[in-house]
Amino acid sequence: MEKRTETQTRQKFFLTTPIYYVNDIPHIGHAYTTIMADVIKRYKTLRGYDVFFLTGTDEHGQKIEKNAIKKNITPKQLADSVVIRFKELWKKLNIDYDKFIRTTDDFHAEGVKKIFNIVREKGDIYAGDYKGHYCVSCESFVSETSEDTKSGNKVCPDCGKETEKVTEKCYFFKLSAYQDKLLKYYDEHPDFIQPPSRMNEVRSFVKMGLRDLSITRSTVTWGIPVPGDEEQTIYVWFDALTNYITGINYLEEDSLFKKMWPADLHVMAKDILKFHAVYWPAFLMSAGLPLPEKELIHGWWLKDEKKMSKSIGNVLDPNVLFEFFNSDAIRYFLMREAPIGADGNFSHQGFVTRINNDLSNDWGNLVSRSAGMIEKYLGNRFTGGSSLGAREEELEKQYKEMEISAIRMFDEYKFNRGLEKIFEFIGYVNRYIVETQPWSLAKETDKKSELEGVLLTLVKSILSINSILYPVIPETSEKVAKVFGHEDLSIGWKDPGNKFTIGKSEQLFPRVDLKEFLKTEEKQEKDKKDNTKKGENDQMEEGIINFEDFKKVEMVVSKILNAEKIENADKLLKLEVDTGLDKRTLVAGIALYYTPEELIGRKIIIVKNLKPVKLRGVLSQGMILAASDAEDRPYILVIPEETPVGAILK
Ligand code: MSP
Repeated sequence: MEKRTETQTRQKFFLTTPIYYVNDIPHIGHAYTTIMADVIKRYKTLRGYDVFFLTGTDEHGQKIEKNAIKKNITPKQLADSVVIRFKELWKKLNIDYDKFIRTTDDFHAEGVKKIFNIVREKGDIYAGDYKGHYCVSCESFVSETSEDTKSGNKVCPDCGKETEKVTEKCYFFKLSAYQDKLLKYYDEHPDFIQPPSRMNEVRSFVKMGLRDLSITRSTVTWGIPVPGDEEQTIYVWFDALTNYITGINYLEEDSLFKKMWPADLHVMAKDILKFHAVYWPAFLMSAGLPLPEKELIHGWWLKDEKKMSKSIGNVLDPNVLFEFFNSDAIRYFLMREAPIGADGNFSHQGFVTRINNDLSNDWGNLVSRSAGMIEKYLGNRFTGGSSLGAREEELEKQYKEMEISAIRMFDEYKFNRGLEKIFEFIGYVNRYIVETQPWSLAKETDKKSELEGVLLTLVKSILSINSILYPVIPETSEKVAKVFGHEDLSIGWKDPGNKFTIGKSEQLFPRVDLKEFLKTEEKQEKDKKDNTKKGENDQMEEGIINFEDFKKVEMVVSKILNAEKIENADKLLKLEVDTGLDKRTLVAGIALYYTPEELIGRKIIIVKNLKPVKLRGVLSQGMILAASDAEDRPYILVIPEETPVGAILK
């Protein structure tokens, strides 16, 4: 076999998610795609690939323009506020992207103009008039053959909403010229779209005939201007799809671009298949660029049997889940529950049951039970006196067979099937404990080496399972690897030797009481509904509060009298403040960025009537106001020195 040398480079893997619209706050649906891409990144990295993972936000177009007008802010302000929400959620979910692109980034706009010019020079763009129908929600032109609404407009075939009539000057892209080329490409690359059923859909769509596509708008100002014609802005999909190349420096065509393009995998849901499987390849062909290797199309997460979307009002905010579960539980559920091509109906009951059964009972218990026995019977120390027999050999064999099938499933992006295999093996190991009964062996002094052999086999199994689970539950895997003193997370049967010590294990996934969870979730849903109702009554937009709501928050200028670190809490400071009317204690999570010395004597704003909570044994009677960025770095607001202590903010 050829020996791998240092100079041999790893195979590259360029992976993308759709860039998400900033008119919507992120929900479970967006999280699903992004988690899937992150799992693929981690898996491919373990398999030796050099991965680049691109995600970001789609910030231009009529939908965002309209939404910003409704909110009385500029589209850029709207984008800036929503981008923070996306970045925060990706951080909480442990999304390890390499680049976050925003279509309002200058380098992106320049890149879009560059490809537009190239396509124009190729002769594929011509000026004309568009008269037809436009779906603002999908940012998509809708054909004459679509169904009519009562008011004479068309129904969007993709989302079912009413479209707008549009008559305007624009530039067209000669999509019709690419019909045969696309069909030929699909025939030559039958795996281009996964799963295959989606490939068939695309083929039939293209076979029905492609009409030229309007790729600019003259009535939408929030977009990238057409080079040489400032009256027109580039159609949001031409702009958005181009992110896949501008995100890796298409503008300069530098070494990153040369190395990474074409993309190895675009991941998305079926709603945007046509744009990615028909328009995008045609634009690329026209620009003389190679086409992406593969596009992975997953189904929708439904709530109450409908696709989650803000306009239907059935979106599920992952933050509700964070009150009870960590990010690994959310990642695991989404990857385990829905087969890649099919839709999944999200139910909280299903979520809690799945996590309790798989992660708390099966995996969590295997780890804590094993660690507990190693502590109790061996004092956490393996001394080399282990004997292994046929049962142990069989277990190793079972693992290896499982690994082959799990890898095959992961390679085909069938994560639910891969996880199913892994959890079958976890069940096998749990049964091994029951059969070998280490607690009985521990009672007999002459069974010491047999006992050590059983416990060693458990460590080997746990470490092996832990590595293959890493792409899906990375935070937990890192913890487990640390406890068992074997931090190499590469996939394979693990053998840590027979003389080592292990650390103390904490509970990985505490069981969540279904009733308790549903009670909290129902309350949050009710609060949300009440707020919306109130908002509707007041003719208000979601997210806007009235003056009465604002008045409920008592904010006063206070002076910091004393500040000190809280023991064993790196991030927390204990502050004694004077509010003008009383002196009180606050606990603030700012210790990484502010020292006690620089705070003493400073004037700050505090929320005074927040319900007191005990943090690390200290009662916090209020909250200090600070702005925070996407990385959660706090910035304490500066108050003019002459502001009196006790002054009320209103
Ligand atoms: N901005 C375009 C994409 C441009 S890519 C060049 C867009 N944005 S979007 O915010 O609407 O995101 C759509 C994508 O978000 C879906 O394709 C899917 O990846 C994800 N999802 C949004 N809602 C979802 C569900 N309810 N279920 C599964 N995925 C969902 O379209």
